[in-house]
Amino acid sequence: MKNIALLFCGILFTIAFSYTGVILASQLQFGSLLQTTAELDEDGKQMEGDPLFPRRESGIALQGKQVYIELGCIYCHSQQIRREGFGADIDRGWGLRATVARDYIMQDRVLLGTMRTGPDLAHVGGRFAGDGGREWHHQHLYNPQLTSKGSIMPPYPFLYEVREIEGEPSPEAVKIPADSPYSPKTGYEVIPTRRAVALVEYLLSLKVDYSLPEAPILDQ
Ligand code: HEC
Repeated sequence: MKNIALLFCGILFTIAFSYTGVILASQLQFGSLLQTTAELDEDGKQMEGDPLFPRRESGIALQGKQVYIELGCIYCHSQQIRREGFGADIDRGWGLRATVARDYIMQDRVLLGTMRTGPDLAHVGGRFAGDGGREWHHQHLYNPQLTSKGSIMPPYPFLYEVREIEGEPSPEAVKIPADSPYSPKTGYEVIPTRRAVALVEYLLSLKVDYSLPEAPILDQ
């Protein structure tokens, strides 16, 4: 081993080179991004009093994100809306604008995804909103065939408890049409577990419905 010094320098160089490319370059490009208001004034300062975006993820939605990670939804769903001209995401109605790096700065774990066996979910909370959206998601997760016949998304019945109705049917029960092959036996009802409730609140919280200075929502 005559050239031990050269070998050592080579190893050092390789590590330094990849560190610069992967970590330093990304830090320089994105590290200084902060929450901001939808618009900036003429001097490029945040407009005072305007709400800050993107919002922090919180509460039960954050618990639901954990369920989303555990169940591997990311293997079929992305959370990134491409620019117009780089795919039909906006034409398909998946979002109001393309997502940019700043949209993700408040997330501890960013679930961009690489596969799109199912639709992009970055703005799914804007598409299925309110109580109607909540009901839709529960039916869909219990069995996708209830809402989307022929869907290849797997059902997640273990997120629900099928239990005997005692007295009055529970208001939380998932509404499944009685004539459906997926409806429970008569006298039984389908109740979302805590995990199902959290997961659906997470899906409802996924919204890119705010403008950023570098990514305004144009037609509003
Ligand atoms: C094997 C791939 C696959 C997996 C895993 C999967 N999905 Fe899906 N998902 C699909 C497909 C395909 C569709 C479109 C058909 C439909 O609506 O069921 C879809 C549709 C959806 C929709 C409706 C989106 C829209 O815009 O219509 C939501 C919400 C959703 N999935 C959530 C989830 C969640 C949450 C999980 C994890 C618990 C999950 N998916 C796991 C394939 C998958």
